[in-house]
Amino acid sequence: MNDLSLIKKFPKDFIFGTATSSYQIEGNGFGDSGKSHWDQFAKIDGMVFNSQDGRIACNHIENWEEDLQLVSNAGFGAYRFSFSWPRLMPDGTRSLNQNGISFYDKLIDKMLELDLKPFGTFYHWDLPIYLADLGGWASRDTAKYFADYSEVIMKNYGDRLYSVATINEPWCVAWLSHYLGVHAPGLKDVQSTAKAMHYIMLAHGYGMEVIRSYSHKNAGIVLNKAAVESYSDKPEDIDAAHLYEEIHNSWFSDAVFNSKYPVKLLNILGNHMPSEYEEDLKIIGTRLDWLGINYYTRNLIKFDAKEKIFQLTDIEGPLNKTDMNWEIYPEGLKKVIENEVNRYNLEIPIHITENGMANNDLNIDGKIDDQKRIDYYLLHLQEIQALLDRGYNIKSYFAWSLLDNYEWSFGYNKRFGLVYVDFETQKRIKKRSWYEFSSNLK
Ligand code: FCB
Repeated sequence: MNDLSLIKKFPKDFIFGTATSSYQIEGNGFGDSGKSHWDQFAKIDGMVFNSQDGRIACNHIENWEEDLQLVSNAGFGAYRFSFSWPRLMPDGTRSLNQNGISFYDKLIDKMLELDLKPFGTFYHWDLPIYLADLGGWASRDTAKYFADYSEVIMKNYGDRLYSVATINEPWCVAWLSHYLGVHAPGLKDVQSTAKAMHYIMLAHGYGMEVIRSYSHKNAGIVLNKAAVESYSDKPEDIDAAHLYEEIHNSWFSDAVFNSKYPVKLLNILGNHMPSEYEEDLKIIGTRLDWLGINYYTRNLIKFDAKEKIFQLTDIEGPLNKTDMNWEIYPEGLKKVIENEVNRYNLEIPIHITENGMANNDLNIDGKIDDQKRIDYYLLHLQEIQALLDRGYNIKSYFAWSLLDNYEWSFGYNKRFGLVYVDFETQKRIKKRSWYEFSSNLK
Protein backbone atom coordinates (compact mmCIF):
# COMPACT_ATOMS: atom_id res chain seq x y z
CA MET A 1 0.00 0.00 0.00
CA ASN A 2 1.25 3.50 -0.83
CA ASP A 3 2.52 5.70 1.93
CA LEU A 4 3.99 9.19 2.13
CA SER A 5 7.49 8.25 3.29
CA LEU A 6 8.93 10.21 0.36
CA ILE A 7 8.28 13.32 2.49
CA LYS A 8 11.36 12.41 4.50
CA LYS A 9 13.53 12.86 1.42
CA PHE A 10 12.46 16.47 0.76
CA PRO A 11 15.03 19.21 1.48
CA LYS A 12 15.19 20.19 5.16
CA ASP A 13 13.96 23.73 4.50
CA PHE A 14 11.02 22.65 2.31
CA ILE A 15 7.78 23.81 3.95
CA PHE A 16 4.85 21.45 4.33
CA GLY A 17 1.57 23.05 5.29
CA THR A 18 -2.15 22.71 5.03
CA ALA A 19 -4.70 25.27 3.84
CA THR A 20 -8.22 26.52 4.50
CA SER A 21 -10.21 29.66 3.74
CA SER A 22 -12.39 31.90 5.87
CA TYR A 23 -15.85 31.40 4.38
CA GLN A 24 -15.34 27.67 4.05
CA ILE A 25 -14.59 27.03 7.72
CA GLU A 26 -15.22 29.97 10.05
CA GLY A 27 -18.99 30.22 10.26
CA ASN A 28 -19.97 33.79 9.52
CA GLY A 29 -22.98 33.53 11.81
CA PHE A 30 -20.52 33.97 14.69
CA GLY A 31 -18.45 36.88 15.94
CA ASP A 32 -20.43 39.80 14.49
CA SER A 33 -19.27 39.12 10.95
CA GLY A 34 -20.93 40.85 8.02
CA LYS A 35 -22.42 38.72 5.26
CA SER A 36 -20.76 37.88 1.98
CA HIS A 37 -22.18 37.49 -1.51
CA TRP A 38 -22.04 33.72 -0.96
CA ASP A 39 -24.84 34.05 1.57
CA GLN A 40 -26.91 35.77 -1.09
CA PHE A 41 -25.94 33.33 -3.81
CA ALA A 42 -26.78 30.27 -1.70
CA LYS A 43 -30.36 31.51 -1.46
CA ILE A 44 -30.88 31.44 -5.22
CA ASP A 45 -32.66 28.24 -6.12
CA GLY A 46 -30.44 25.58 -7.62
CA MET A 47 -27.12 27.39 -7.23
CA VAL A 48 -25.74 25.57 -4.18
CA PHE A 49 -26.27 21.99 -3.06
CA ASN A 50 -29.32 22.02 -0.74
CA SER A 51 -29.03 25.84 -0.57
CA GLN A 52 -26.35 25.44 2.08
CA ASP A 53 -24.33 28.44 3.19
CA GLY A 54 -21.39 29.31 5.43
CA ARG A 55 -23.24 30.54 8.51
CA ILE A 56 -21.99 27.64 10.61
CA ALA A 57 -19.46 25.85 8.39
CA CYS A 58 -16.88 24.21 10.71
CA ASN A 59 -17.52 26.76 13.44
CA HIS A 60 -13.81 27.48 13.38
CA ILE A 61 -14.55 30.74 15.17
CA GLU A 62 -15.12 28.68 18.31
CA ASN A 63 -12.95 25.68 17.45
CA TRP A 64 -9.88 27.52 16.17
CA GLU A 65 -7.54 26.31 18.91
CA GLU A 66 -8.37 22.69 18.31
CA ASP A 67 -7.96 23.27 14.58
CA LEU A 68 -4.54 24.85 14.92
CA GLN A 69 -3.50 21.99 17.17
CA LEU A 70 -4.49 19.59 14.42
CA VAL A 71 -2.16 21.42 12.02
CA SER A 72 0.65 21.50 14.52
CA ASN A 73 0.26 17.96 15.86
CA ALA A 74 0.50 16.59 12.34
CA GLY A 75 3.95 18.15 12.13
CA PHE A 76 3.15 20.78 9.52
CA GLY A 77 5.34 23.86 9.58
CA ALA A 78 2.89 26.30 8.03
CA TYR A 79 -0.78 27.12 7.87
CA ARG A 80 -2.40 28.90 4.95
CA PHE A 81 -5.60 30.70 5.91
CA SER A 82 -7.56 33.66 4.59
CA PHE A 83 -8.92 36.78 6.20
CA SER A 84 -12.62 37.41 5.84
CA TRP A 85 -13.31 40.84 4.44
CA PRO A 86 -16.87 41.03 5.85
CA ARG A 87 -15.67 39.79 9.23
CA LEU A 88 -13.10 42.58 9.44
CA MET A 89 -15.16 45.24 7.65
CA PRO A 90 -18.83 44.25 7.73
CA ASP A 91 -19.85 46.76 5.06
CA GLY A 92 -16.59 46.33 3.19
CA THR A 93 -15.52 49.92 3.32
CA ARG A 94 -15.31 51.77 6.60
CA SER A 95 -16.32 50.43 9.97
CA LEU A 96 -14.17 47.78 11.61
CA ASN A 97 -15.51 44.83 13.59
CA GLN A 98 -13.28 44.70 16.68
CA ASN A 99 -14.41 41.18 17.34
CA GLY A 100 -13.03 40.17 13.94
CA ILE A 101 -9.83 42.13 14.45
CA SER A 102 -9.14 40.29 17.70
CA PHE A 103 -10.04 36.92 16.20
CA TYR A 104 -7.17 37.04 13.68
CA ASP A 105 -4.93 38.52 16.37
CA LYS A 106 -5.25 35.49 18.57
CA LEU A 107 -5.24 33.10 15.60
CA ILE A 108 -1.93 34.45 14.32
CA ASP A 109 -0.37 34.64 17.78
CA LYS A 110 -1.26 31.03 18.37
CA MET A 111 0.29 30.01 15.04
CA LEU A 112 3.50 31.72 16.05
CA GLU A 113 3.40 30.05 19.43
CA LEU A 114 2.98 26.65 17.74
CA ASP A 115 5.80 27.42 15.32
CA LEU A 116 3.46 27.49 12.32
CA LYS A 117 4.39 29.97 9.64
CA PRO A 118 1.30 32.09 8.92
CA PHE A 119 0.56 32.28 5.17
CA GLY A 120 -2.25 34.84 5.01
CA THR A 121 -4.46 35.34 1.95
CA PHE A 122 -6.41 38.60 1.75
CA TYR A 123 -9.22 37.53 -0.55
CA HIS A 124 -10.59 34.01 -0.84
CA TRP A 125 -13.96 34.91 -2.34
CA ASP A 126 -16.09 36.23 0.51
CA LEU A 127 -16.94 39.64 -0.90
CA PRO A 128 -19.01 41.81 1.48
CA ILE A 129 -22.62 41.96 0.30
CA TYR A 130 -22.55 45.73 0.39
CA LEU A 131 -19.81 45.78 -2.26
CA ALA A 132 -21.48 43.06 -4.30
CA ASP A 133 -24.58 45.24 -4.43
CA LEU A 134 -22.48 48.16 -5.67
CA GLY A 135 -21.36 46.10 -8.64
CA GLY A 136 -18.88 43.67 -7.12
CA TRP A 137 -15.87 42.75 -9.23
CA ALA A 138 -17.43 44.31 -12.32
CA SER A 139 -16.85 47.66 -10.66
CA ARG A 140 -13.56 49.52 -10.42
CA ASP A 141 -14.51 50.78 -6.95
CA THR A 142 -14.22 47.27 -5.52
CA ALA A 143 -10.53 47.24 -6.45
CA LYS A 144 -10.11 50.58 -4.67
CA TYR A 145 -11.90 49.30 -1.57
CA PHE A 146 -9.66 46.25 -1.68
CA ALA A 147 -6.70 48.58 -1.16
CA ASP A 148 -8.32 49.95 2.03
CA TYR A 149 -9.01 46.42 3.21
CA SER A 150 -5.39 45.43 2.48
CA GLU A 151 -4.32 48.38 4.59
CA VAL A 152 -6.37 47.08 7.53
CA ILE A 153 -4.67 43.69 7.27
CA MET A 154 -1.15 45.04 6.90
CA LYS A 155 -1.57 47.53 9.71
CA ASN A 156 -2.93 45.00 12.17
CA TYR A 157 -1.07 41.83 11.23
CA GLY A 158 1.53 42.53 8.53
CA ASP A 159 4.61 42.17 10.69
CA ARG A 160 3.46 38.79 12.03
CA LEU A 161 2.67 37.22 8.66
CA TYR A 162 5.42 35.06 7.21
CA SER A 163 3.88 35.40 3.80
CA VAL A 164 1.02 37.37 2.26
CA ALA A 165 -1.07 36.74 -0.84
CA THR A 166 -3.47 39.26 -2.33
CA ILE A 167 -5.99 37.15 -4.24
CA ASN A 168 -6.83 33.47 -4.34
CA GLU A 169 -7.57 32.19 -7.85
CA PRO A 170 -8.61 35.20 -9.94
CA TRP A 171 -9.90 32.83 -12.65
CA CYS A 172 -12.61 31.64 -10.27
CA VAL A 173 -13.40 35.16 -9.12
CA ALA A 174 -13.80 36.37 -12.68
CA TRP A 175 -14.54 33.59 -15.16
CA LEU A 176 -16.24 30.93 -13.09
CA SER A 177 -18.38 33.53 -11.33
CA HIS A 178 -19.23 35.95 -14.17
CA TYR A 179 -19.12 33.86 -17.33
CA LEU A 180 -19.93 30.33 -16.23
CA GLY A 181 -22.23 31.52 -13.45
CA VAL A 182 -21.21 28.70 -11.15
CA HIS A 183 -19.91 30.79 -8.25
CA ALA A 184 -21.25 33.97 -6.65
CA PRO A 185 -22.55 36.26 -8.07
CA GLY A 186 -23.62 33.69 -10.66
CA LEU A 187 -23.58 35.90 -13.74
CA LYS A 188 -23.33 34.67 -17.29
CA ASP A 189 -22.40 37.67 -19.33
CA VAL A 190 -19.31 38.64 -21.19
CA GLN A 191 -19.43 42.35 -20.31
CA SER A 192 -19.11 41.82 -16.58
CA THR A 193 -16.64 38.99 -17.20
CA ALA A 194 -14.25 41.32 -19.04
CA LYS A 195 -14.51 43.87 -16.24
CA ALA A 196 -14.01 41.28 -13.50
CA MET A 197 -11.05 39.70 -15.36
CA HIS A 198 -9.38 43.09 -15.14
CA TYR A 199 -10.56 44.56 -11.85
CA ILE A 200 -9.61 41.50 -9.84
CA MET A 201 -6.08 41.93 -11.20
CA LEU A 202 -6.18 45.63 -10.47
CA ALA A 203 -7.18 44.80 -6.89
CA HIS A 204 -4.10 42.58 -6.75
CA GLY A 205 -1.95 45.47 -8.00
CA TYR A 206 -3.37 47.90 -5.47
CA GLY A 207 -2.95 45.31 -2.73
CA MET A 208 0.72 44.89 -3.68
CA GLU A 209 1.24 48.64 -3.41
CA VAL A 210 -0.12 48.60 0.12
CA ILE A 211 1.98 45.57 1.04
CA ARG A 212 5.12 47.29 -0.28
CA SER A 213 4.31 50.44 1.65
CA TYR A 214 4.65 48.26 4.76
CA SER A 215 7.92 46.89 3.40
CA HIS A 216 6.72 43.30 3.52
CA LYS A 217 9.18 41.14 1.60
CA ASN A 218 7.27 37.94 1.04
CA ALA A 219 4.24 38.79 -1.08
CA GLY A 220 2.59 36.97 -3.94
CA ILE A 221 -0.62 35.95 -5.67
CA VAL A 222 -2.24 32.53 -5.84
CA LEU A 223 -3.22 31.36 -9.32
CA ASN A 224 -5.11 28.18 -10.07
CA LYS A 225 -3.44 26.53 -13.00
CA ALA A 226 -5.12 23.89 -15.09
CA ALA A 227 -3.25 21.51 -17.34
CA VAL A 228 -5.03 22.52 -20.54
CA GLU A 229 -4.96 19.98 -23.36
CA SER A 230 -6.64 19.68 -26.70
CA TYR A 231 -9.29 16.98 -27.02
CA SER A 232 -7.94 15.87 -30.40
CA ASP A 233 -5.32 16.69 -33.03
CA LYS A 234 -7.83 18.58 -35.15
CA PRO A 235 -6.61 22.15 -35.73
CA GLU A 236 -9.91 23.56 -34.49
CA ASP A 237 -9.57 21.73 -31.17
CA ILE A 238 -5.94 22.77 -30.86
CA ASP A 239 -6.92 26.40 -31.46
CA ALA A 240 -9.71 26.15 -28.92
CA ALA A 241 -7.25 24.74 -26.37
CA HIS A 242 -4.88 27.65 -27.03
CA LEU A 243 -7.64 30.11 -26.35
CA TYR A 244 -8.60 28.26 -23.20
CA GLU A 245 -4.98 28.31 -22.06
CA GLU A 246 -5.22 32.11 -22.21
CA ILE A 247 -8.54 32.16 -20.37
CA HIS A 248 -7.47 29.91 -17.53
CA ASN A 249 -3.73 30.41 -17.27
CA SER A 250 -1.89 33.06 -19.24
CA TRP A 251 -4.32 35.95 -18.75
CA PHE A 252 -3.30 36.20 -15.10
CA SER A 253 0.38 35.29 -15.39
CA ASP A 254 1.01 37.52 -18.43
CA ALA A 255 -0.52 40.38 -16.44
CA VAL A 256 1.60 39.95 -13.33
CA PHE A 257 4.85 38.97 -15.06
CA ASN A 258 4.70 40.92 -18.33
CA SER A 259 2.17 43.69 -17.68
CA LYS A 260 0.07 42.64 -20.65
CA TYR A 261 -2.86 40.43 -21.53
CA PRO A 262 -2.64 37.61 -24.10
CA VAL A 263 -3.85 38.64 -27.55
CA LYS A 264 -6.44 36.07 -28.58
CA LEU A 265 -8.55 36.57 -25.51
CA LEU A 266 -7.96 40.29 -25.45
CA ASN A 267 -9.28 40.50 -29.01
CA ILE A 268 -12.51 38.86 -27.95
CA LEU A 269 -12.96 40.76 -24.68
CA GLY A 270 -11.58 43.96 -26.19
CA ASN A 271 -14.78 46.00 -26.58
CA HIS A 272 -15.82 45.27 -23.05
CA MET A 273 -12.49 46.00 -21.39
CA PRO A 274 -12.32 49.03 -19.12
CA SER A 275 -10.78 51.94 -21.02
CA GLU A 276 -7.83 52.44 -18.62
CA TYR A 277 -6.70 48.84 -18.62
CA GLU A 278 -3.31 49.45 -20.25
CA GLU A 279 -2.32 52.05 -17.65
CA ASP A 280 -3.51 49.72 -14.89
CA LEU A 281 -1.33 46.88 -16.15
CA LYS A 282 1.74 48.77 -14.94
CA ILE A 283 0.39 48.53 -11.40
CA ILE A 284 -0.69 44.93 -11.89
CA GLY A 285 2.84 44.04 -12.97
CA THR A 286 4.40 45.11 -9.66
CA ARG A 287 7.23 42.70 -8.86
CA LEU A 288 6.21 39.63 -6.85
CA ASP A 289 8.31 37.78 -4.29
CA TRP A 290 6.76 34.43 -5.11
CA LEU A 291 4.09 32.74 -7.19
CA GLY A 292 1.47 30.52 -5.61
CA ILE A 293 0.08 27.68 -7.71
CA ASN A 294 -3.07 25.74 -6.91
CA TYR A 295 -3.40 22.60 -8.94
CA TYR A 296 -6.08 19.93 -9.06
CA THR A 297 -6.74 18.56 -12.54
CA ARG A 298 -6.64 19.05 -16.29
CA ASN A 299 -9.08 20.53 -18.78
CA LEU A 300 -9.66 18.77 -22.08
CA ILE A 301 -10.85 21.36 -24.57
CA LYS A 302 -12.79 20.93 -27.78
CA PHE A 303 -14.04 23.34 -30.42
CA ASP A 304 -17.76 23.99 -30.02
CA ALA A 305 -19.61 26.12 -32.56
CA LYS A 306 -22.66 26.25 -30.31
CA GLU A 307 -20.76 28.37 -27.80
CA LYS A 308 -21.24 31.67 -29.55
CA ILE A 309 -18.45 33.80 -28.08
CA PHE A 310 -15.48 31.58 -27.29
CA GLN A 311 -16.49 28.51 -29.32
CA LEU A 312 -15.09 25.95 -26.96
CA THR A 313 -16.18 23.45 -24.39
CA ASP A 314 -14.73 21.25 -21.68
CA ILE A 315 -14.96 17.51 -22.34
CA GLU A 316 -15.00 14.84 -19.66
CA GLY A 317 -11.70 12.93 -19.89
CA PRO A 318 -11.04 9.19 -19.55
CA LEU A 319 -8.76 9.18 -16.48
CA ASN A 320 -9.69 8.11 -12.95
CA LYS A 321 -11.69 10.78 -11.18
CA THR A 322 -12.03 12.19 -7.69
CA ASP A 323 -15.37 12.75 -6.02
CA MET A 324 -15.53 16.14 -7.79
CA ASN A 325 -15.42 14.19 -11.04
CA TRP A 326 -12.04 15.82 -11.68
CA GLU A 327 -9.48 13.67 -13.47
CA ILE A 328 -6.45 12.63 -11.46
CA TYR A 329 -3.56 13.89 -13.56
CA PRO A 330 -0.36 14.41 -11.52
CA GLU A 331 1.76 14.97 -14.61
CA GLY A 332 -0.27 18.14 -15.11
CA LEU A 333 1.28 19.63 -11.99
CA LYS A 334 4.70 19.21 -13.53
CA LYS A 335 3.49 20.68 -16.81
CA VAL A 336 1.97 23.80 -15.31
CA ILE A 337 5.07 24.52 -13.22
CA GLU A 338 7.41 23.98 -16.18
CA ASN A 339 5.20 26.21 -18.26
CA GLU A 340 5.26 29.08 -15.78
CA VAL A 341 8.99 28.90 -15.26
CA ASN A 342 9.81 28.72 -18.97
CA ARG A 343 7.27 31.20 -20.28
CA TYR A 344 8.25 33.93 -17.82
CA ASN A 345 11.87 32.94 -17.05
CA LEU A 346 10.79 32.78 -13.45
CA GLU A 347 13.43 32.93 -10.80
CA ILE A 348 11.19 33.75 -7.85
CA PRO A 349 10.15 30.88 -5.60
CA ILE A 350 7.04 28.86 -6.32
CA HIS A 351 4.72 27.76 -3.54
CA ILE A 352 2.21 25.00 -4.17
CA THR A 353 -0.53 26.68 -2.21
CA GLU A 354 -3.23 24.04 -2.81
CA ASN A 355 -3.43 20.46 -3.98
CA GLY A 356 -5.70 17.67 -2.83
CA MET A 357 -8.82 15.67 -3.59
CA ALA A 358 -12.42 15.22 -2.60
CA ASN A 359 -13.22 11.68 -1.59
CA ASN A 360 -16.41 10.01 -0.55
CA ASP A 361 -15.06 9.42 2.96
CA LEU A 362 -17.04 7.18 5.24
CA ASN A 363 -16.92 7.34 8.98
CA ILE A 364 -16.93 3.71 10.00
CA ASP A 365 -16.92 3.36 13.76
CA GLY A 366 -14.89 6.52 14.13
CA LYS A 367 -12.30 5.52 11.54
CA ILE A 368 -11.87 7.10 8.12
CA ASP A 369 -9.74 5.17 5.67
CA ASP A 370 -8.95 7.58 2.83
CA GLN A 371 -6.17 5.63 1.17
CA LYS A 372 -7.24 7.12 -2.18
CA ARG A 373 -6.35 10.55 -0.87
CA ILE A 374 -2.95 9.30 0.26
CA ASP A 375 -2.39 7.91 -3.24
CA TYR A 376 -3.34 11.27 -4.75
CA TYR A 377 -0.92 13.14 -2.49
CA LEU A 378 1.83 10.66 -3.20
CA LEU A 379 1.51 10.99 -6.98
CA HIS A 380 1.62 14.78 -6.84
CA LEU A 381 4.45 14.93 -4.31
CA GLN A 382 6.48 12.64 -6.58
CA GLU A 383 6.14 15.21 -9.35
CA ILE A 384 7.35 17.97 -7.03
CA GLN A 385 10.24 15.88 -5.88
CA ALA A 386 11.32 15.25 -9.47
CA LEU A 387 11.18 18.98 -10.21
CA LEU A 388 13.23 19.76 -7.10
CA ASP A 389 15.82 17.24 -8.31
CA ARG A 390 15.94 19.18 -11.57
CA GLY A 391 16.65 22.40 -9.67
CA TYR A 392 13.19 23.97 -9.68
CA ASN A 393 12.77 26.63 -7.02
CA ILE A 394 9.73 25.20 -5.23
CA LYS A 395 9.56 26.16 -1.58
CA SER A 396 6.41 24.69 -0.14
CA TYR A 397 3.46 22.37 -0.54
CA PHE A 398 0.06 22.90 1.09
CA ALA A 399 -2.47 20.11 1.30
CA TRP A 400 -6.01 21.26 0.61
CA SER A 401 -7.56 21.03 3.09
CA LEU A 402 -7.12 20.72 6.84
CA LEU A 403 -10.83 20.09 7.38
CA ASP A 404 -13.82 18.92 5.42
CA ASN A 405 -15.55 22.21 4.74
CA TYR A 406 -17.97 24.26 2.66
CA GLU A 407 -17.08 23.36 -0.89
CA TRP A 408 -18.79 26.36 -2.53
CA SER A 409 -21.61 25.30 -4.87
CA PHE A 410 -21.26 21.73 -3.62
CA GLY A 411 -22.04 22.83 -0.06
CA TYR A 412 -20.98 20.27 2.56
CA ASN A 413 -21.37 17.46 0.11
CA LYS A 414 -17.69 17.11 -0.86
CA ARG A 415 -14.96 16.19 1.57
CA PHE A 416 -11.41 17.46 0.99
CA GLY A 417 -10.08 17.34 4.57
CA LEU A 418 -7.24 15.50 6.22
CA VAL A 419 -9.61 15.72 9.15
CA TYR A 420 -13.22 14.59 8.93
CA VAL A 421 -15.87 16.97 10.23
CA ASP A 422 -19.18 15.68 11.48
CA PHE A 423 -21.26 18.73 10.62
CA GLU A 424 -24.00 17.78 13.10
CA THR A 425 -21.74 17.74 16.13
CA GLN A 426 -18.68 19.65 14.84
CA LYS A 427 -16.58 16.72 15.99
CA ARG A 428 -13.23 16.48 14.20
CA ILE A 429 -11.89 13.00 13.39
CA LYS A 430 -8.41 12.53 11.96
CA LYS A 431 -8.44 10.59 8.74
CA ARG A 432 -5.83 8.06 7.77
CA SER A 433 -4.26 10.71 5.49
CA TRP A 434 -3.72 12.98 8.53
CA TYR A 435 -1.90 10.15 10.30
CA GLU A 436 0.13 9.44 7.19
CA PHE A 437 1.36 13.04 6.93
CA SER A 438 1.97 13.08 10.64
CA SER A 439 4.11 9.97 10.77
CA ASN A 440 6.34 11.29 7.99
CA LEU A 441 6.54 14.94 8.96
CA LYS A 442 7.67 14.31 12.51
C1 FCB B 1 -9.93 25.72 -5.02
C2 FCB B 1 -10.32 26.73 -3.97
C3 FCB B 1 -10.60 26.16 -2.63
C4 FCB B 1 -11.29 24.81 -2.71
C5 FCB B 1 -10.59 23.90 -3.68
C6 FCB B 1 -11.20 22.53 -3.82
O1 FCB B 1 -10.26 26.19 -6.27
O2 FCB B 1 -9.31 27.70 -3.81
O3 FCB B 1 -11.33 27.09 -1.90
O4 FCB B 1 -12.61 24.98 -3.01
O5 FCB B 1 -10.56 24.50 -4.94
